[in-house]
Amino acid sequence: MCGIVAYIGYREACPIILKGLHRLEYRGYDSAGVALLNGDLNVYKKKGKVAELEAFIAEKDTRAQVGMGHTRWATHGEPNDSNAHPHYSTSERIAIIHNGIIENYAALKQHLQQQGHVFHSDTDTEVFVNLIEEIQKQNNCTLEEAVRLALHEVVGAYAIVVLSRDEPNQLIAARKGSPLVIGVGKDEYFLASDATPIIEYTNEVVYVNDYEIVVIKDGQLDIRSKEDVQQTPYIQKLEMALDSIEKGGYEHFMLKEIFEQPRSILDSMRGRLELEAGHLNMGGIRAYERKFVNADRIIIVACGTSWHAGLVAEYLLEDLARIPVEVEYASEFRYRNPIITERDIVIAISQSGETADTLAAIELAKSKGATIFGICNVVGSSIARATDAGAYTHAGPEIGVASTKAFTAQVTVLTLLAMIVGHKRGTLSDTRLRELMVELSSIPAKVEKALLLNDEIELIAETFKDVPNFLYLGRGYNFPVALEGALKLKEISYIHAEGYPAAEMKHGPIALIDENMPVVVIATKDSSYEKVVSNIQEVKARKGRIIAVVTEGDTVIPAMAEFVIEVPLTSEVLVPLVSVVPLQLLSYHIAVLRGCNVDQPRNLAKSVTVE
Ligand code: M6R
Repeated sequence: MCGIVAYIGYREACPIILKGLHRLEYRGYDSAGVALLNGDLNVYKKKGKVAELEAFIAEKDTRAQVGMGHTRWATHGEPNDSNAHPHYSTSERIAIIHNGIIENYAALKQHLQQQGHVFHSDTDTEVFVNLIEEIQKQNNCTLEEAVRLALHEVVGAYAIVVLSRDEPNQLIAARKGSPLVIGVGKDEYFLASDATPIIEYTNEVVYVNDYEIVVIKDGQLDIRSKEDVQQTPYIQKLEMALDSIEKGGYEHFMLKEIFEQPRSILDSMRGRLELEAGHLNMGGIRAYERKFVNADRIIIVACGTSWHAGLVAEYLLEDLARIPVEVEYASEFRYRNPIITERDIVIAISQSGETADTLAAIELAKSKGATIFGICNVVGSSIARATDAGAYTHAGPEIGVASTKAFTAQVTVLTLLAMIVGHKRGTLSDTRLRELMVELSSIPAKVEKALLLNDEIELIAETFKDVPNFLYLGRGYNFPVALEGALKLKEISYIHAEGYPAAEMKHGPIALIDENMPVVVIATKDSSYEKVVSNIQEVKARKGRIIAVVTEGDTVIPAMAEFVIEVPLTSEVLVPLVSVVPLQLLSYHIAVLRGCNVDQPRNLAKSVTVE
């Protein structure tokens, strides 16, 4: 949540920062601002999207070779000009941008007010910058020292960048709990919440660790621990292509990402599923294979769409590997007193690798001795680094706030994991393994085929674009898909939607069904097909409007449903990879037809780095 970007070097900072803010806008988009250091320290900020900030500063003097910018997702204080970042200190000699939450801000603010500091916003961030100013005044020290001392006093999470008019040609940054990446160029440095603003200038990056302080001064990069011990920067080379973070001719990132799935699913299998050789490999579990084989149970922690992928994994791991699985909302798990032992394996699933609740759940499980396995999309992310082992999904950057290709990539990796563990445990025979390998290899082509339904689904969307409610029903492997379909619809179109196990309908939701209620039933040919047919009858008897996702060639359900979407046949355990695709497209088209901002839905942000 919130995107931060900064530049120091020989180029004009402002255009780099604005472009970077556009790239980071998926992290928050209720206000934006920049601070430019050029003799003076000027802050320009505006409520709204980055485009509004751009228009606002078009006539201003923005010449500077040092600067920073922020795009906000409000935590403390409503979205308005004064709560937007950057924030000045009282003297306006220091400015800060911040991603995170300072939990003890109220007590600090009271103390600072008593010292004469004046506040113009409702934010915790303004407290942070005034704390730095006060410490500098009290100790007559450098900005770097003041930042270091301030970090000892704040409680909470932060990635910050600080500039001071009195110490030009210097940029100070620090992190705890919120991501921060340094781009290392020739005679120039970049800082950002993720690598997307950096990648077009340099592919050499350093991921800042928690409790580190970064000082970039006179062309030198210096990273120190909170205790002031110099650290050796570990420079990594990124392999992110610029076109992977651009829309590439699509109207929205979400649509591009839905259409990328044949490739992203293939990328998640690449090097892991070797059909010819008959091998499955997953480097991440190699050292922990015995742990997996002997695990008493697996606990999966995740949020949102990643939690839905976790539910699919519950079916997969229980079916194929016969290990008991519990799937937990990370936000609940972290505040319970869960029973975790050293024989448990905790799988944390996260696209961004930055979700605060998932990270906290990992820390809790770690403290109880469990082995933590991560499934993340973003390389070098906090979760990827906090786990004992893991597997990247390799879906490529996902920019649309609604997760699509990350879900199918997560399910692909989890399927491979369940197959490998099941085979090692002897619960998955050689023959069945081989069959599943063949079928999994055919999934990208089947998803490609499901994508051909796009125009047909757009027409269905036209019919339902104005309804206030939707129900999604599915059983077995398609139950998590029903949940995912409902989440996709509500988050981008603001239509109320609920996902249910189809058989649960008669325990309550059936009361909602009348001639106005669209009911999406995912009814592919699998072991519960007949039962789902009965559930469809129950909906039909109450005049519900049925939109059925069926297997190609189905002749029974088309006679009952108002709309039918046919997807290719696949094995029951792989069906979510195919059946979710039409639901992604349906929500996309409904949202577009309703005039919603698909890539940046209201109130949401891509990475939820606050709890
Ligand atoms: O980055 P993560 O996978 O940890 O994010 C978890 C959720 O915040 C995320 O899936 C969210 O629910 C998406 N907006 C769903 O489309």
